[in-house]
Amino acid sequence: MASYNVNAVVGVQWGDEGKGRIVDYLASDAELVIRFQGGDNAGHTVINEYGKFGLHILPSGVFNPETMNIVGAGTVVNFDRMKEEMNNIKKSAGLDIDNVFIDERAHIIMPYHMALDGAEEGKRSEKDKIGTTKRGIGPCYSDKAARIGIRAADIMDPETLEKRLSAVVPKKNRELEYYGLETVKLEDMLALAEKWRNEFGDHIIDTLPIIRDAVEEGKKILLEGQLGIMRDNDWGIYPYSTSSNPTAAGACNGAGIPPRAITKVVGVAKAYSTSVGGGPYMTELFDADGEKLRDIGHEYGVTTGRPRRCGWFDAVAADYACYMNGITDIALTKLDVLDTFEKIKVCTGYMIDGEYYSNLPETRLQDRAKPIYEVYDGWMCDTTGCRTWDELPEKAKTYILALESLMHTHITYVSVGPERNQLIIR
Ligand code: GDP
Ligand code: IMO
Ligand code: MG
Repeated sequence: MASYNVNAVVGVQWGDEGKGRIVDYLASDAELVIRFQGGDNAGHTVINEYGKFGLHILPSGVFNPETMNIVGAGTVVNFDRMKEEMNNIKKSAGLDIDNVFIDERAHIIMPYHMALDGAEEGKRSEKDKIGTTKRGIGPCYSDKAARIGIRAADIMDPETLEKRLSAVVPKKNRELEYYGLETVKLEDMLALAEKWRNEFGDHIIDTLPIIRDAVEEGKKILLEGQLGIMRDNDWGIYPYSTSSNPTAAGACNGAGIPPRAITKVVGVAKAYSTSVGGGPYMTELFDADGEKLRDIGHEYGVTTGRPRRCGWFDAVAADYACYMNGITDIALTKLDVLDTFEKIKVCTGYMIDGEYYSNLPETRLQDRAKPIYEVYDGWMCDTTGCRTWDELPEKAKTYILALESLMHTHITYVSVGPERNQLIIR
C-alpha cells in the first residue's frame, strides 16, 4: 500500500484565519479537496490568476481543473447558493465549475431552516445573540441530529423525499407559526427539490469509493475546514458556536477519512485575532489598536459584511487548538498587518476572579477572564515583499518564534499578503 498523503486545513482561532488562501495554495497538486463540515456560512477568500473570490460552499480547490472537489457527508448544502457561486465564477473568471461533487449523505438546507435561523436569533436578547450568519446552519444540523433532515440522497429519490417531507413540513410549519412566520407548502418544497435534482443530480454521488481509493493509493487529499475551533460545537464557546466540528477529528468524520490516514494537520492562525458574532473573546480590543487592526486587515465578514471584532493573538487559545487538532504545522497569516505597530501584545494567560489560568477555561469563565500579556517590539517596516525567512526583519522573527514556542508547534508557513505568492515556507 502507498503511504498516506492526507492534509487537513483547520482554523486555529474564531474563523477567517485565511484557510481559503492556504487551501488554494496547497491545492495546486491535490487530487481531492473535501469540505467536511459547515455550509455557506463559510466565507473563504481566494486570490489567484482569475481574480478575487469569496467562496461559501464551494471548496477552495475549484480553481485547479485537475482537482476533484467534494462537498462532504458532514456538510449542509444550500443548492441555490452553490449555483449562484458557480455562476459568479463563470461570469467573472469565465470558468465552468464542473469539478464539484456532493456526497449523497450531506444534508440539505431548506427554506424553513433559513427562516428559523433568523427567527431564533430575533428571539434572543442582545447579550445572548450568537450572531449567526442566518444561513440556516443551526436549524439544518438540528434536524440532522433529530433524524428528520433531508439529505442529498432524498433529493435523488422522489418517493422517499415526499414521504420524509410530508412528515416534516407540518412540524416545521408549527415552528414557523410560533415565530409568526409564513408557513411553507409541501408542493413548493417538492418543486424546489425537483429543480435541484435537475441542476445537481449528476453531481450527487456516493463519494466514499473515490475517497477510499485516493486514500489507499496515497494520492494527495486536502480536507478544508470552515470556521475555527473556538466556535466548535463541543470544544468552542458554546452556545455561541456553530453546529458542527471544524476540527481535524471533525474532518475525519465529515469527509470519510480514517484518523490514521491523516499525515499533516495545517492550523491556520492570524498573527493577531478576530471574531465575528457573539460570545466571549478575551483579547478583544476596544481602542485605537483594535480599529487599526480592522482598518489595515480589512476585517469585515466575507459572508455577512459585518465588522469583525479585533484583538491581540491569544496564545493560550491557540495552544489549545494545536493540542485538540494535533496540528503539525501552523500557517501564520496576515503578519504584514502588524508592520506599523510599535508594540505587539500576546496573551499568555488569564486572571479570572483573582485566580491565574494558564489554560483555556470553559465559556462561562471566559466571560470574566482578563488577559495577561507579553509585549513585543514591532518591526516597523514593510514585510509584504519578503519571500524567505531570512528576508524577514529580526523583530518579526522574534515575534514568530515566540508564538511558535507558546503554541508548541512549528510555524511552517508565514503569509505576508493575500496573494498566492506572498507566502514564506520555513
Ligand atoms: P477564511 O474564512 O479562513 O478563508 O478567511 P477569510 O477569507 O474570511 O479572511 C481572510 C482575509 O485575509 C481575506 O480577505 C484574505 O484575502 C486576507 N488574507 C489572507 N492572508 C493574508 C495575509 O497574509 N495578509 C493580508 N494582508 N491579508 C491576507
Ligand atoms: P469561515 O469558514 C467567522 C460564526 C457566526 C456566529 C457563529 C454561528 O469563513 O471562517 P452559524 O451561522 O455557523 O450558525 O453561526 O459562528 N461564524 C463564522 N465566523 N467565519 C466563519 O466562517 C463563520 N461561520 C460562522 O458569526 O457567531
Ligand atoms: Mg471567512
